[in-house]
Amino acid sequence: MTKDLYELGDAPPLGTAPKQMYASLIRQERYGRPVDAFRTEVVDVPPVGPGQVLVKVMAAGVNYNNVWAALGEPLDVIAARQKQGATEDFHIGGSDLSGIVWAVGDGVRLKPGAEVVVLACRWDESAQDIRLGADPVTSSTQRVWGYEENYGSFAQFAVVDEYMCHPKPQRLSWAAASCYMATAATAYRQLFGWEPHTVRPGDPVLIWGGAGGLGSIAIQLVRHVGGIPVAVVSSEERGEFCMRLGAKGWIDRREFDHWGRLPDTTDEEAMKQWLDGARAFGRRFWEVLGERRAPRIVLEHSGADTIPTSIYMADNAGMVVICGGTTGYNGDVDLRFLWMRQKRLQGSHVASAREAREITRLIDQGAIDPCLSRTFGFEEIGLAHQLIHDNQHPSGNMAVLVNATE
Ligand SMILES: NC(=O)c1ccc[n+]([C@@H]2O[C@H](COP(=O)([O-])OP(=O)(O)OC[C@H]3O[C@@H](n4cnc5c(N)ncnc54)[C@H](OP(=O)(O)O)[C@@H]3O)[C@@H](O)[C@H]2O)c1
Repeated sequence: MTKDLYELGDAPPLGTAPKQMYASLIRQERYGRPVDAFRTEVVDVPPVGPGQVLVKVMAAGVNYNNVWAALGEPLDVIAARQKQGATEDFHIGGSDLSGIVWAVGDGVRLKPGAEVVVLACRWDESAQDIRLGADPVTSSTQRVWGYEENYGSFAQFAVVDEYMCHPKPQRLSWAAASCYMATAATAYRQLFGWEPHTVRPGDPVLIWGGAGGLGSIAIQLVRHVGGIPVAVVSSEERGEFCMRLGAKGWIDRREFDHWGRLPDTTDEEAMKQWLDGARAFGRRFWEVLGERRAPRIVLEHSGADTIPTSIYMADNAGMVVICGGTTGYNGDVDLRFLWMRQKRLQGSHVASAREAREITRLIDQGAIDPCLSRTFGFEEIGLAHQLIHDNQHPSGNMAVLVNATE
């Protein structure tokens, strides 16, 4: 006989969905410190529509986006969805998972029992812009599942569209398979998605946050195709971690203090001070690289604090490719560097299904390590996000066990 609710690790027979599930919820009254924002509650399992699958979540990856969700900044994700007509007054985050397809909706090819990982990028396949040929990631209907969209992977079960699923790399544990997709696919698109600025053998690449989720994968990807990754970090321990992943060297950003917004161009003294800082950073880059060349690509996500330096550092006709703004969104650009040296500032967001499949193959082949750093229990989801918030998290990517025990 089936039950309405199963304990974590337990489930109804394959092919059937339970009525309810445990999930880690954020509510508006708990917005604030991530460690206090998440709480386990019981909710109804969402319905499985045509083209969708119900996944029994074995493990979930931890990403920066649900630090933002927990803070309620810069977007109150619950209010934003309610404005669009949603009735839920809670948010279930989590944009990465590994799991087992447990039930399927109409028109689905995947079979119950398939082991999958998920790219948290959802779009409307019937949208006009997609039908007219747009890359679905750039569609006006594209949303990040488990952040902009509710019912993410911090729950016993998750409903995703079939095209979001990719085969789980068989050599990986549930935890390791759950930790990489959001950061790895994003870094992959940043480094290989923006022709002609894709990494070529011999290209120096500057990688902010080299020991972070994006950075740890980016170092390996650049090395994999013969580029020369140079990491920026804030501790020796993180620098050593980057070296083990294949970085040519690392720069300790604590040695510099020219971060943040640019002074006004009419303030010559302040501008000179900023330029002295940026030049010193550039000299350090040459030292680490062992030659006087500028990075052809700069992998950005740190945002306001670092973007002026990134634009300065990129080679003539090089590219700064940015997918986030951890330190703030008002990033200053000295336009002179941009146009005189014909550089490119490129926004990049998540990844396409093809890019997700390609990075998954590289991981499956063992060419790229997902860099699982620490695995948490289901009740520690808030703690994991607090560590990211405080920049105290271990190097690499973190995971949470949901239905899996290891
Ligand atoms: N758009 C997308 O699709 C997408 C996908 C994934 C991530 N993101 C965004 O990208 C950002 C990074 O994500 P992640 O998963 O790599 O996070 P992460 O694991 O926390 O790594 C970020 C790294 O940034 C570095 N950092 C922190 N403050 C900094 C500062 N003031 N200046 C320079 N570096 C600083 C830290 O390294 P050190 O302290 O060692 O320097 C940290 O390890 C987040 O904002 C996230 O939301 C966007």
